[in-house]
Amino acid sequence: MAHKPIRKAIFPVAGLGTRFLPATKAVPKELLPVVDRPLIQYAVDEAIEAGIEQMIFVTGRGKGAIEDYFDIAFECETLQRERGKDLSALEGTRLAPGNAVFLRQQESLGLGHAIWCARDIIGDEPFAILLPDEFMKGTPGNGCMKQMVDAYEKTGGNLVCALEIPIEQTPSYGVIDPGARDGVLTEVKGLVEKPALGTAPSNLILPGRYILQPGVMKILETQEKGAGGEIQLTDAMASMIGQQPFHGVTFDGRRFDCGSKAGYIEANLAMALERADIGAHIRAFATAELAQG
Ligand code: G1P
Repeated sequence: MAHKPIRKAIFPVAGLGTRFLPATKAVPKELLPVVDRPLIQYAVDEAIEAGIEQMIFVTGRGKGAIEDYFDIAFECETLQRERGKDLSALEGTRLAPGNAVFLRQQESLGLGHAIWCARDIIGDEPFAILLPDEFMKGTPGNGCMKQMVDAYEKTGGNLVCALEIPIEQTPSYGVIDPGARDGVLTEVKGLVEKPALGTAPSNLILPGRYILQPGVMKILETQEKGAGGEIQLTDAMASMIGQQPFHGVTFDGRRFDCGSKAGYIEANLAMALERADIGAHIRAFATAELAQG
């Protein structure tokens, strides 16, 4: 069955990033680098690889640097070109004209509210959501969103990435109540946002990648506040279960929670070790450092 293609993605980037203060006092957390690429660039690359054309950034006050980042760096590019310097590092940082939309979530009312802010740009098409502080490292040419779009072509409906974590960590996440599993697909029977310790229906969480039908916007319009007093995307998605196919996709790759300091450092180390330019140096350094105890 042919489903409408996924052409649009929402990147919620309005969060204050307080866990990384003071680094995030004047720099949006989405621009913090993993080695030398900002987190948001990895998420955008992941979307482009999955065939997504239009990137919708839901930003907030103090996040203007993200908009500049995806524009031409006029002075820098002109100077470097005049000096005959290599500009390849900037490849993929400029989005095609008309393919980047920036809008503001004025108040921190929750992820569900941030998504709802993009309702008129989404219109009546299914769309993707990528939370950039979840760094999903797929296999080469087959990132997390690409894997989800491939699954969507078979299932249609709503899809979330599904990830197993230690059960004691579930109170920090949206959690799936799973049904039957078939290969990478798990039926979603229920969803709960940030369950209290010991009450999670499974250890299968939502690591911030979604493909949703546009009907979720109507639900979000009247969605009551949920966990943490915020309008939760998870609660709105839960209302769609049973009305349309709803699946979790087990992703082939590694996930780093770059919303936490430990996850961010892990991502930097893992990516640095893979680099042709600095990998060997970092491996030798890390080995020597660890040997010192
Ligand atoms: C959000 C979502 C949650 C999801 C998590 C992934 O929570 O509400 O369902 O599991 O992102 O990082 P937040 O981290 O914004 O509290």
